[in-house]
Amino acid sequence: MNNFTFYAPTLFAFGDGEEKKCGELVRRFGGTKVLLVIGGGSAKKIGAFDAVTASLTAAELPYTVLEGIQPNPRSGKVYEGINIVRREGLDFILALGGGSVIDTAKAIAFGAKYEGDFWEVFAGEGQMPSDPLPIGTVLTIAAAGSEGSASCVITHEAGNLKWGAPKSDALRPRFSVLNPRYTCALPPYQTACGIVDMFAHVCERYFTTTPDVALTDRLCEALMKTIVEAGNKVMANPMDYHARADLMWAGMLAHNNSCGVGRAQDWASHQIGHELSAFYDCAHGASLAVVMPAWMKYVMNENPARFARFAVEVFGCELNPMQVEKTAKEGIRHLRSFFRVLGMPTTLGEIGATVEDIPAMVMHRSAKGFPFGGFAEIGPAEMADILCICEGE
Ligand code: NZQ
Ligand code: ZN
Repeated sequence: MNNFTFYAPTLFAFGDGEEKKCGELVRRFGGTKVLLVIGGGSAKKIGAFDAVTASLTAAELPYTVLEGIQPNPRSGKVYEGINIVRREGLDFILALGGGSVIDTAKAIAFGAKYEGDFWEVFAGEGQMPSDPLPIGTVLTIAAAGSEGSASCVITHEAGNLKWGAPKSDALRPRFSVLNPRYTCALPPYQTACGIVDMFAHVCERYFTTTPDVALTDRLCEALMKTIVEAGNKVMANPMDYHARADLMWAGMLAHNNSCGVGRAQDWASHQIGHELSAFYDCAHGASLAVVMPAWMKYVMNENPARFARFAVEVFGCELNPMQVEKTAKEGIRHLRSFFRVLGMPTTLGEIGATVEDIPAMVMHRSAKGFPFGGFAEIGPAEMADILCICEGE
């Protein structure tokens, strides 16, 4: 195991009705005037907006609403939020929604404290402020894990760049309210996208070159097994509160890095997936359902034994010690069928992508730089090869 620092100071209030504590929690973490960030309407439809604003009002907290955050959130709303915060002297950002709303809130929180254009931090041309405004979240979809993560992903409209900010513990929310009941209202497609994303977050950590990481290996396996089991349950019965609860907590654990500490991580599938989302505006989870099995096929020979272990531990395949590769391939097949059972796309065509666009996607990615990938190094040629595999079957 490698040395590591782990600092994840988010308070989690988990369960049905916990959003009633919002006002009290904002006060506890020093907020007096709130920017409430929401998406395109689901928070109002499911009653979360009313519950959260009632709690803020009960705590005598004034708030201004910034609405209309889109999936694959854009820089325009970040600039708008920064202007409101500065103009009205707001001191706390409360995100109500999914990863897109939360990431917008995170970018506003540090952008309001940054002297220049917040995008300079994404582009590596400026330092992330060490004291962003505090943020809290009320999560309505189990997926991205932003409610506990140190990450923030925004698409800059100029150049259509879907990039992550440098990871910073300062971006972790002060508190996150997780009410699984809210996720019962999700359309099946969004539920499935979330399941793929959280599974992918574990895979990006599980496929490692670091030896002797027995505990985090097993934590990863427990998470992946739970995601498959609970994922199948909620697809069959969307109102299954306990399966929704398992998924919601799994989504947080999958990405707050408790199962990724002390080990090299990969993240190539995410990097390639972000290009698909930038080009075709497809959901993040859908991009991963297409890319991850293709990435696995491409890199499997780096360590077939690890892929065979994945097959055995996560999907219950039988180990064939004489033909480890065979078991390894079986695991990848199982993963792809799991994604298909969820109703996810697994080929380029299904998200409206074409092989003709592959050179343009590779070129577009070069603005961020090559190589990437901690399990296997991916340069432009490898990225193109993986995208070609996505075309298949
Ligand atoms: O906009 P509204 O009306 O709220 O609808 C949303 C949106 O259309 C809807 N939704 C959310 N909760 C709902 C609901 N619909 C009905 N009932 C509910 N309870 O779901 C749609 C998707 O929302 P979004 O926030 O985009 O989903 P998700 O949480 O998957 O976030 C995806 C974004 O997070 C980034 C992704 O790249 C993508 O931009 N990621 C952020 C990470 C992080 N900060 O740690 C890590 C991830 O790897 C990921 O990159
Ligand atoms: Zn993700």
